Amino acid sequence: SGLNTTIVAAGKLYFGTATDNTELSNTAYEKQLNNTADFGQITPGNSMKWDAIEPERGAYTYAEGDVIANLAKENGQKLRCHNLVWYNQLPSWVSGGGFDNATLIDIMKNHITNEVTHYKGRCYAWDVVNEALSDAGDGSYRSNVFYETIGEAYIPIAFAAAAAADPDAKLYYNDYSIESAGAKSTAAQNVVQMIQAYGAKIDGVGLQSHFIVGETPSTTAQVANMKAFTALGVDVAITELDIRVATPETTADETQQAIDYASTVKACMQVDKCIGITIWDWTDKYSWVPSTFSGEGAALPWDSNLDKKVPVYDAILSAE
Ligand code: XIL
Repeated sequence: SGLNTTIVAAGKLYFGTATDNTELSNTAYEKQLNNTADFGQITPGNSMKWDAIEPERGAYTYAEGDVIANLAKENGQKLRCHNLVWYNQLPSWVSGGGFDNATLIDIMKNHITNEVTHYKGRCYAWDVVNEALSDAGDGSYRSNVFYETIGEAYIPIAFAAAAAADPDAKLYYNDYSIESAGAKSTAAQNVVQMIQAYGAKIDGVGLQSHFIVGETPSTTAQVANMKAFTALGVDVAITELDIRVATPETTADETQQAIDYASTVKACMQVDKCIGITIWDWTDKYSWVPSTFSGEGAALPWDSNLDKKVPVYDAILSAE
């Protein structure tokens, strides 16, 4: 029994992984990706983002996103669709277009309506708004073209447009550094309440969970934080889990990494409304970490040769 079958038997909806189109040409990679004993859910790492889907205004390109959606369907895996509104991987025609309030609202709604309609009925969940909060530590919104032009209302407007286009998809707010108590987590709870106050539907909060070995929040801290969200009437999901180390990694790093993965999985197991766990790809070969955090990597449960890190894998399994 694998990571997915075990967590499903314990009452969760899925254990899953991100993937990306270019990786699918590697047959050994694809074989394990398709292994539904371990992965009952997949997330496209890039191919449903705005720059991939609407690189020019009104010109929609779904081929790459469809490859991932079709793969999920063939495999019988749930699909988390990622993402609709984000300051990053946003084409310059949007970020630098100089649009006024009404025009940018129109552009954002059109993007959401078109993409959500295209994938209607296929997404278990949509990450509607990604990373809207700043890292200032004061709970403020991140300055981006949507916030500067529309104000905080861009967030509920986005959720309402997504809900109208696919009433059955679970709609998520997704962010990082909101996995334990602190100003940013409190701000994310305020985002949930703000969306609700506008009368829009929000179903869940995605806790990205890009952790550092030895600095992963404790199970207790993660549970308390998850419950602060679920008390607002939403689900939580761990959406982008990885636990990075300074490379080259040591045996001691791997031992601690196994402990950190386990403490995170245990937290989700202890919260009924933590519905599932997604790792941000499964092999170090294709992790985003080394190219983003210089000198860090080895963040996933399989190494760069696609070999299972047995202590890490087993720790996740026993925590489920
Ligand atoms: C990352 C992808 O994995 C990379 O391939 C890409 O170059 C940059 O984006 N938070 C998110 C994800 O919500 O979309 C990001 O994915 C990682 C951080």
